[in-house]
Amino acid sequence: MPLYKSIAITPETTAYIWKNSEDVETLFDAVSLNTTSKMRLEKMNALAHKKGYLGVRMLLQYIGYTDFDLLYDATGKPYLMPETGNGKKNHHPSPKQPHISISHSHEFSCICLSNEPVGIDLELKKSKIIQIAPRFMDTKHLEGLSEKEQIEKASVIWGIKESIFKIKSEKGISFPNHIFEEDFELSQGYCNATLNFNNQKELFKIHFYNLEDYIFVCALNY
Ligand SMILES: CC(C)(COP(=O)(O)OP(=O)(O)OC[C@H]1O[C@@H](n2cnc3c(N)ncnc32)[C@H](O)[C@@H]1OP(=O)(O)O)[C@@H](O)C(=O)NCCC(=O)NCCS
Repeated sequence: MPLYKSIAITPETTAYIWKNSEDVETLFDAVSLNTTSKMRLEKMNALAHKKGYLGVRMLLQYIGYTDFDLLYDATGKPYLMPETGNGKKNHHPSPKQPHISISHSHEFSCICLSNEPVGIDLELKKSKIIQIAPRFMDTKHLEGLSEKEQIEKASVIWGIKESIFKIKSEKGISFPNHIFEEDFELSQGYCNATLNFNNQKELFKIHFYNLEDYIFVCALNY
């Protein structure tokens, strides 16, 4: 399918979402992959993982980049190649070299471009998250909610922590001990969170959206 949705999160931050309804062969034929990406793809066993990976490349092409423009640092954090990123025809409003974050989960792939450091996460809403909530979040934030709301809110909070982790990408960051969500209402669609790590406190603005059975979270550095 073509682009499923784009979300203008701020004037300089846009998320692009692909629904991977095509089969792996169709996606593979539609993208150009560098040698490293071909090797990574070959090593993937799950079809859903392959589709998620190729869906990201479809999105890159949609906004005027290719797999050849996407690089990873030693931690696995993606970034766009500086020389080829600038000045490309693309749908992103920013004239500056944007930051990029990537997430894929089952049938959706997502990339987000921003002028600010950005992290995103796409989470399938699953009831199991309620059982594991005490391991990663303040469960007071689930009090008084229906089961459906608890699943949704815990999924948002998990996404917040993954997204902030993706911005920082530093060893030793613990979800329960270093990343703290301020309480929020699900209807708000946004909240604040802090990272207290290495004697430094950083504030993040969080935006979240429902996407069929998924929660999409985007964290931006203040
Ligand atoms: C690396 C990690 C962030 C990936 O997240 P995920 O939910 O498993 O998978 P997603 O689909 O959302 O994201 C995968 C993408 O994140 C990006 N990514 C991987 N490592 C990254 C890093 N260190 N920093 C930023 N982005 C990263 C990549 O682009 C990757 O996709 P690609 O390799 O196909 O391009 C996650 O596995 C992780 O390590 N989290 C922190 C560990 C942790 O503390 N966990 C639980 C504590 S209670």
